[in-house]
Formats: sequence, C-alpha cells, structure tokens
Amino acid sequence: MSITKIKAPAFHITGEAGWINDPNGLIFFNGKYHVFYQHNPNDVKWGPMHWGHVVSEDLTNWEYLPIALTPGDDFDKNGCFSGTAIVHGGKLWIMYTGFIENSGGESIRQVQCLAESIDGVTFKKHGMVIGEKDLPEGYAPEDFRDPKVWLHDGVFYSIIAARKIGGRGRILLYKSKDLFKWEFVNDIFGKDSPGAMIECPDYNEDMGCLLFCEQFQPSENGIHLNIHTCRYCIGRIDYSTGRFNEESRGIVDYGFDVYAPQTFAGKPLLMGWLNMWDRNVPSEKYGFAGMLTAARRISVKDGRLYQEPIVSCGEAIVKEGPGGEVKDNALKGVVTVKASELESFSMKMRSNGESYTELTLKGGEWVFDRSRSGEAISGAEKDSDSQNGIRRMPYSGNKEITVTIVMDEFSIEIFEDGRSLTSTVYPPEGADALELTVKAAKWQYERRDVNIK
Ligand code: FRU
Repeated sequence: MSITKIKAPAFHITGEAGWINDPNGLIFFNGKYHVFYQHNPNDVKWGPMHWGHVVSEDLTNWEYLPIALTPGDDFDKNGCFSGTAIVHGGKLWIMYTGFIENSGGESIRQVQCLAESIDGVTFKKHGMVIGEKDLPEGYAPEDFRDPKVWLHDGVFYSIIAARKIGGRGRILLYKSKDLFKWEFVNDIFGKDSPGAMIECPDYNEDMGCLLFCEQFQPSENGIHLNIHTCRYCIGRIDYSTGRFNEESRGIVDYGFDVYAPQTFAGKPLLMGWLNMWDRNVPSEKYGFAGMLTAARRISVKDGRLYQEPIVSCGEAIVKEGPGGEVKDNALKGVVTVKASELESFSMKMRSNGESYTELTLKGGEWVFDRSRSGEAISGAEKDSDSQNGIRRMPYSGNKEITVTIVMDEFSIEIFEDGRSLTSTVYPPEGADALELTVKAAKWQYERRDVNIK
C-alpha cells in the first residue's frame, strides 16, 4: 500500500507516512541525536515492523533518513522489534528483537539480533546473537524481547523482557565482552510482575533508574487506568548478583498516551510513544498513526523521577496579573504559567468555543479532560474516568509552581513539579484559542511558539 501523510504534528516525530510505535535506539552519534522507531511504512496499522530513522541537532527539528532495518531475514522474518543503539569502536550498533510468527500471525520465536553501521545511516545485519538456547529453563521463547544494552566497566550488559511459561512479566540480565557472545546472568527481580508481560525495559545507569512497561496491568486503586502502564523503579543493578535493588517506584506519566519510554544512551533524556495500544487513532485519515513525545530532560530526586520538556522555541509573549484572565491563541509551542500561592487554575486549550480540552486544579489534584477535545478517542478501559475522557495527576501544592504545557497539532503534554500528563487530542481545524483563569498571589503567563526551521 502506498500512503501519503497529509497533515502532521509540527515537531513531534511521526513516520514519513504510516504507523509508528515505540522509540528505539535513542542515541547521540556523529553530532546528531538519532531516533529510531517501530514503523510500518506500508499501512496506518501495526504490521511488519521496520526501524524508521530521524536525526536532529535541537531535538525539535527532525530530518528523515532511510529506513534503518527492514524485516525479512530468517532471524527477523516478520519484524524488527524494539531495541537499543550503542556506540562501540567508533561504529553504531543496534541490538533488536527478531520476530518470527506462525501462519496464524502468532509469535513463535523472539530472538535478539545485532546490526552495525559505520555512517549511522545504513546498517549491516549480523543475525541472531541471543536465541532460545540462551534462555534459562522454563522461560517462553515467544515472549522474549526489547533488549537494552549499555557498557559497565568494559562489559556490555543487556536487560531483556521475558516471561516464564504460564507466568507473567520478568526482566533477564545478560552480559557480553563483544556484543556477539552473550551469557545469562540473572532474572533481575526474581519474581513475576503484576503485568501479563513486561515490554521495553530501559536502564539509565548514571541515574539509577529502570523503566519498563507492563501489559494488562491491574489498576492498583486507580493508578494504572490505561490497561498497559509504564513504570520507573529507582535503584541499581548489583552486578555481583544480577539483581535489581529497588528503592522506590512510580508511574512514568499520568495521561492517556505514553508507552515504551526510553532514555538516550548515556544521557538524561527521555522520549516515549505518544499513543497507547488498543485505541482508535483518528489521524489514520491523514496518512499516519502514532507519534513520539517531545524529548524530556530527566533527573531523580528523593526517589522520584522528574521530567521537563525540551522544545526549541522563539521569544516569550508574556502576560501577567493582577487580573486573573488570559485570552490567547496557542497551537504549536510551549505555554508556561508560574504562580505563587496558587488558589485556583482553569485552562481551556485548543478551543473554538464548542470544542476544547481542559486542565483544572480540583480537589487538590490536576484534572485533565479531553471529553470535548474533538474527534472521539476510545479504548478498552471500562472505568468512569477513562470513559469520561479524564486523567488526574497529583498537584505539588508548592508555594511557587510552574505549569508547562507542550502543545502540537495532535497532542498536549502537561508538566508540574517533574510529573507529566500526556495525551493525544484531535481538535477541529482552527481550534487554537486558549483561555486561562487563575487566582494566585502573583502569576505570569508565557507563550513561546516552536522554532521550526
Ligand atoms: C511495545 C512493543 C514491544 C515490541 C514492539 C513491537 O509497544 O509491543 O514489546 O518490541 O512493540 O512493535
């Protein structure tokens, strides 16, 4: 099928056309940020996975490069699934999952494969480096995927999502001297996770932060409403035991649409898929489905993950109190509201009067409402918040607060005190009005439009 993209976000990564999901192999190489992603260039639905590829110097303006990996070899016959990029010996290496299915489209094997590139553009495949025979006894060869690789004291380590036959999500640790020969070290938690299967584990050694997603995760008192969830665990892998020593854990994002977040190799930068499994995707009619979040600078403080967005923008348009209202037009860029002693906050975004998306401080928490945002987005969730287009995020209650909102054609990403709430929206053409009503001892509103070159 040949598809053309006829409408797109301004600075959020999408495929040149077609479907995308997880960010893969996030890395800075040869002076540019490289982002790969799970991609089906031939349809707006998930299908045979390729690795799409874009590069950027400012994490905002992205340039397409040729598709980096195409499935079809024996070891990745039906898909090149998620994985990592790592620089070694001046070259760019990719470790990814080769996906092999039966004639009914069911996974029968997932194996870890290696590819290499000198110029960071074209890749040579080396085939399978970790296969079924390298799995410890009792683990399912059809659910073994998404290797994250890093170097520690001259040894390569990889964590790979797995599952015991009849069991739930696990993460396995392997090690290697040369990226080709791998040895199993341990199952890092040594027990089943609540989710049916773990996906896309990521370990940022500098920060002591492990990220992973869980499929079909129980809601745990309304915390994980999206059915599939993304967690962070603060702590460190003990290389002498191969276990993860966990200090604390939390949810990566409070919105509807973040999955598979990954960090850039050796950098405190994160990006996720700005979408979720099991939802309709109204942008299909524009020739694309799926995008990635804006890049986020991350840090860990007091056992918690903090995120702040990075978007290259122009000069700020500033409006200040004492009045309590702002009327503006904001569509592609970043809006920041700073307030001291905030009493109330209510913002309508992407509004044309009838359609709008709302963020309100209510009952001591942030309440995001996309029920009137435009085209209906539905998922498999049955709880009342999900059915009503609502997501909630804790409010810091700090004396001085900063709310940062990243807006683009089809998405809204909200940040306060390091937490994030991210969702897709599909507003009608021209719905770009913003109305803020705020009550605080002092406040300031700033809008910066994105710098698209
Ligand atoms: C996560 C995921 C990965 C897999 C990829 C396939 O969203 O299911 O586990 O590698 O997507 O596209």
